[in-house]
Amino acid sequence: MNIAIIGSGGREHALEWKLSQSPNTEKIFVLPGNGGTENNIEIGVTDFKKMKTFCLENDVELIVVGPEVPLVEGIVDYFSDTNIKVFGPDKRASILENSKIFSKNFMRKYDVATADFWKFSGDDDATEIIQKLDGNLVLKYDGLAGGKGVFVCDSIKEAVDSIREIKNRYGEVANYLIEEKLIGQEVSIIGITDGKDIQLLLSSQDHKQIYDGDKGPNTGGMGAYCPAKFMNDELMKEIKNKIINPTLDGIYNEKFNFKGVVYFGIMLTDDGPKLLEYNVRFGDPETEVILPSLKSDLLELILACFNGNLSTTNPEFYEKYFVDVVLTSGGYPNKYKNGYTISGLEKLSNETQIFHAGTRKENGEIKTNGGRVLNVVASGDDLNSTIEKVYKECEKISFTDIYYRKDIGKR
Ligand code: AMP
Ligand code: GLY
Repeated sequence: MNIAIIGSGGREHALEWKLSQSPNTEKIFVLPGNGGTENNIEIGVTDFKKMKTFCLENDVELIVVGPEVPLVEGIVDYFSDTNIKVFGPDKRASILENSKIFSKNFMRKYDVATADFWKFSGDDDATEIIQKLDGNLVLKYDGLAGGKGVFVCDSIKEAVDSIREIKNRYGEVANYLIEEKLIGQEVSIIGITDGKDIQLLLSSQDHKQIYDGDKGPNTGGMGAYCPAKFMNDELMKEIKNKIINPTLDGIYNEKFNFKGVVYFGIMLTDDGPKLLEYNVRFGDPETEVILPSLKSDLLELILACFNGNLSTTNPEFYEKYFVDVVLTSGGYPNKYKNGYTISGLEKLSNETQIFHAGTRKENGEIKTNGGRVLNVVASGDDLNSTIEKVYKECEKISFTDIYYRKDIGKR
């Protein structure tokens, strides 16, 4: 079948790479794609009208949505009058990612383990809670903010300043949450669901901050590895009991139209695993390691969600570690320049996987075209040697102002 992948990052390149291995895939289009993806079509991720015309004219039977924005804007609903399958939750179900307040209430309603929270809007006075928690809290703006709406605070002053920042950015009437601050390792668990059952992929760990040692501002993700080294069967069982199963009960009970991906952002605290957030899509850069680790046919898993046989699928995985280092443009996540020539890609080992993100092709050359430029992914039998391997590969690549973290997977 012909498939359209929506998006332009490393996640979408990884999806293209994995789906192209399926015997049932004929042609893959990527809308709009990047310098690494093959059949790029210049259509924006929320230009549903053009998308529909294109997909109908090109016999696209399946749309796989990368980023959250088209889901939140209702891409699934928009195609509901066609025979095209859109892999993702509909607009109503996307609220699990789109509204932090909704998702926290959902967690509370269905008894999903999570941090305690309080909701505020507009002129509400948060002083009492801020003092009660002595400023040790997390503030979250209630809406999509590209990872920039969360403030982890250590003091009363920081909490007060952060509320001001939220109001400056999102308006005086902005809704926000105060959460109890949890401490622990973070792990990402991603599953494919048909709204009733779920098939989990391997656990992984993202590295969100720009500098080594998890210092500096948050980014879209500086690297990831899988499987997470501290996961074991017992912990997984606890995560299923306290987080995943109650979530699926909730999705089913709310009658959400959800054939897509649920991403569980989990913190492993001394008090057990707690859910930080849902995303309703593949994580980036987690996808760049969990798809290489998946032995089974991804297309088959996706189609099982539409055919009602997800529960009888049996995804298999490689017994290896996968490490992804994200090469970025110096200055990111703030100001950086585009348009530098990338060299050295031809020197990479053919065992190394490269997933492009912020790149574009120009006169046969690959140029930088974004903050996160390339994902370099290596695999191996143990984590330490895989980390060494991936960094040797990173050294072969160069472009002006290249920057990457040197400690991915070493946490
Ligand atoms: P979120 O978008 O809700 O996942 O938050 C982004 C990041 O903020 C998470 O990956 C955590 O590192 C941090 N965070 C969110 N909620 C909490 C919490 N309750 N306690 C501690 N850290 C948190
Ligand atoms: N890696 C975190 C995210 O995709 O939101």
